[in-house]
Amino acid sequence: MASEGVEMKEKTASETVEDEEIVIDVDEPEPTIEDLPGVGPATAEKLREAGFEDLLAIAVMSPPELAEQAELGEAVSSKIISGAKKLANIGGFVSGNALLDRRSRVEKLTSGTSSLDELLGGGFETQAIVEVFGEFGSGKTQIGHQLAVNTILPKESGGFDGEVFYIDTEDTFRPERIAQMAESVGIKPEDALNRIHVARAYNSAHQMLLVDEIKRMSKNIDVKLVIVDSLTSHFRAEYIGRGMLATRQQKLNRHMKELKQIADVQNALVLVTNQVMSKPDAMWGDPTKAIGGHIVGHASTFRLYLRKSKGGRRIARLIDSPNLPEGEAVFTVTSEGLRD
Ligand code: GTP
Ligand code: MG
Repeated sequence: MASEGVEMKEKTASETVEDEEIVIDVDEPEPTIEDLPGVGPATAEKLREAGFEDLLAIAVMSPPELAEQAELGEAVSSKIISGAKKLANIGGFVSGNALLDRRSRVEKLTSGTSSLDELLGGGFETQAIVEVFGEFGSGKTQIGHQLAVNTILPKESGGFDGEVFYIDTEDTFRPERIAQMAESVGIKPEDALNRIHVARAYNSAHQMLLVDEIKRMSKNIDVKLVIVDSLTSHFRAEYIGRGMLATRQQKLNRHMKELKQIADVQNALVLVTNQVMSKPDAMWGDPTKAIGGHIVGHASTFRLYLRKSKGGRRIARLIDSPNLPEGEAVFTVTSEGLRD
């Protein structure tokens, strides 16, 4: 099951070119930034500090940009970039049929409300990152809790019958809320809580490490839902001022890429929550826009903008979907969970 996303890489490439057999050993460790020309421990440290862990991220930079962001000389940057272009895994082309085959394995998770499910073309999709953004109290964490419970449901009931990994950055995960929602869909609270694995992230670096941990664990566990609630709060608190903006965006970008990789490899859903700015802010920009700007927006497959409405209702607006019309859904948060 957990093979599709790495299919290209896992195949032992063995092809004959003019009598010479080229065998790429798949067990060979992937090159790291230390393998680049002119990169010793100090430069490696600078690159990592600036968020350049990934060879591809370096390969696509220009020498002046890399020089500025990683505080290196331009000549060194230029040499590093040429090295990265040779070593980076640029990826490859796959046929439209292979993509169609991958798409055919997409599964959809019910939200427990028909309006939200309809808005999303049948539910929350695997192989996708869904970003839910909205102001405080708009229901982002409630959606996270509900999807966690629904992921445990059997497939016939709109679930994934899989395991949930919940990265909690704001200490708002509540097992008793899970228990309440589980009971109302007929799952024993302890069975639900058994399959929801929660970690508190203490800062953004820890948050990113936890994703590595999920990757490691996913070799033996059927990870179907990963939640990062909130995606941006630590980044926002730690990277303050314009001078930190580029670094923050790079780290967020890398974080999103790792999450997307889990979504693809595991055929899983990734849900990230994001606050909107409550007041205009020179550094963070437009008050109605989500934090993290275009990096988070572009890396998300679906974006749901939540707002509060009269009578405790919530309105979710679908924005920027690759294949669905924009639209809105109305739902409520009740003691049993999300309902129409
Ligand atoms: P921030 O994390 O602060 O940005 O907010 P959020 O978007 O995560 O909001 P959250 O999902 O925590 O929504 C909180 C709201 O959900 C509350 O104000 C209630 O309206 C509703 N809610 C939460 N728990 C319950 C419950 O047990 N019963 C009912 N009826 N409503 C609840
Ligand atoms: Mg919340």
